[in-house]
Amino acid sequence: MSEDEIPLAQPVLGPEEEALVLQVLRSGHLSLGPRVPAFEQDFAAFLGAPHASAVSSGTAGLHLALRAAGVSDGDEVITSPFSFVASANVIAYERATPVFADIDPVTLNVDPDAVAAAITGRTTALLPVHIFGYPADVPALEQYGLPIVEDACEALGARHRDGVAVGARGHAAVFGFYANKQLTTGEGGMVTVGDAAIKQRIDSERNQGRAPDMAWLDHDRLGFNYRMTDLQAAIGIAQVRRLDGMLADRAQVAAWYREALSPLAAEVGLTLPCENDDGDERGWFVFVVQLPHGTDRDAVIRALRVLGIPSKPYLPAIHLMSFYRERYGMREGMFPVCEDVAARSIALPFFPVMTQSQVARVSLALAQTLPGA
Ligand SMILES: Cc1ncc(COP(=O)(O)O)c(C=O)c1O
Repeated sequence: MSEDEIPLAQPVLGPEEEALVLQVLRSGHLSLGPRVPAFEQDFAAFLGAPHASAVSSGTAGLHLALRAAGVSDGDEVITSPFSFVASANVIAYERATPVFADIDPVTLNVDPDAVAAAITGRTTALLPVHIFGYPADVPALEQYGLPIVEDACEALGARHRDGVAVGARGHAAVFGFYANKQLTTGEGGMVTVGDAAIKQRIDSERNQGRAPDMAWLDHDRLGFNYRMTDLQAAIGIAQVRRLDGMLADRAQVAAWYREALSPLAAEVGLTLPCENDDGDERGWFVFVVQLPHGTDRDAVIRALRVLGIPSKPYLPAIHLMSFYRERYGMREGMFPVCEDVAARSIALPFFPVMTQSQVARVSLALAQTLPGA
């Protein structure tokens, strides 16, 4: 990459990560070692969650959390069509049916009224997604008395209006640690839970169904290999230590974007990410804007690329993906708010060490490429 090329995302890794990873390498204890429980404890303490289980990915965590919620064959799980595809795929892993409910046009999270309308006698769980780090209205969903599995893969650092951190309400909540996330271990994930028995089940199922008090290689339930390595956990421990700073840096970059792009919002109808409302607080993950209606998004992305600015359509509606059309008969028009937002959204470069002048360059480039600006 040339010096003035701006990446779409970039992790922050430093000497602390290197030192902790080296320690693990020298110890020879690369997996099933002490760093995994240490990382779990640090992460749970950061959030104020009672328990945490480290896993190999956010997807693996969602799968195990859904199993722990009792989801199985023929059940229905209500979720958002505006998410990364993994949050719906895990429902299909258990041969249950993903039932989508449309999103709120402002927060882009699942609309609690649409969820209420989708509940049937077969609904066994709700799977809200805190999309782009903005807290979903989980308190409103709690009134239905159904198990809730929260997809918090994009929402580290977010907080609900009652002051509780996303992931610390006691439901299973799942975080993802892919390289573009607020905290990264390369690949990896974490499930936070309120109930020690659920943690025990997840810990067993991530390790081939092995019970903690049983002899080596004795397995009392079906399990998977969804383990995190000690190398990943070592990176995670260092990342938790710098997490407050990295989250603050992301919020600063977002504030620069908001300032720089506000004129475009006023002049041509560019939609910026919603502001924190009524005490709900976003944990900044990406900076996604919705282009004005009628804009040729592909042309904007191409024009930005010519100016050295990467961007991508983000996110596509899950129900319009070919697997979901073919398997579940989904089609255009089923979730109009999601479809409208998905058709106009692009993610701009966004990462904690992004400078104000890089933000200014991206914003200027967007202004140059948007018709009418
Ligand atoms: C909303 C959402 N759900 C689930 C996932 C899956 O996480 P992972 O890639 O760690 O499996 C992601 C990650 O990109 C995500 O953004």
